[in-house]
Amino acid sequence: MHSIVTLISGRGSNFEAIVKIAQKDHWPVKFAGVIANHSAAKGLDFARSQGIPAFAIEHREHPSRESFDAALIAKIDELGADLVVLAGFMRILTPGFIRHFEGRLINIHPALLPAFPGLHTHERALEAGVQEHGATVHFVTEGVDEGPIICQASIPVLAGDDVDALAARVLAAEHQIYPRAVKWFIDGRLRIEGNQVKVQPPEAQLIKL
Ligand code: GRF
Repeated sequence: MHSIVTLISGRGSNFEAIVKIAQKDHWPVKFAGVIANHSAAKGLDFARSQGIPAFAIEHREHPSRESFDAALIAKIDELGADLVVLAGFMRILTPGFIRHFEGRLINIHPALLPAFPGLHTHERALEAGVQEHGATVHFVTEGVDEGPIICQASIPVLAGDDVDALAARVLAAEHQIYPRAVKWFIDGRLRIEGNQVKVQPPEAQLIKL
């Protein structure tokens, strides 16, 4: 039985999408806990409604990133995670944290990496005039929004799209690929080879919506 700990900062809709599919399809997983970096994170309410242990570790109460991350590591280890899922977790993690969970730490980013790492991806995609945008699930390495890509979803940018319309379609795409990537992980189907991820047996790692 795999044990998943999820880190969130806000509404937690990706976490919710993963939990709902796991419940529906009876995945052999235990959602061991959800941790937010502040107590107002909405996703904590959903976790509690499902009986999933929910915690806030307030980053503002820590004097440094190292101290905050040490508290996070201690809690995640106490919960016994073999997969750590970053789902809208808006804190930059220290190299020490990333090394500690290397190979079992994954993130979703609302862009087709390596395009548009960082923040405000939808605004930047519109400004750049790209015809395609999307989302990426990847293993986390020390560079922000770098790391081997597990899967991506692409959507067309439509004439007349504004940030909200584009963000909503990307979010719907995220809700499709994040559960898929988590399932591949728990099924032991992912191999990291250099900066690439191979899925075994092979399955499309890009979906076009
Ligand atoms: C998502 O767009 C995710 O890609 C980004 O933050 C957002 C989180 O949304 N990292 P939610 O909290 O999962 O609803």
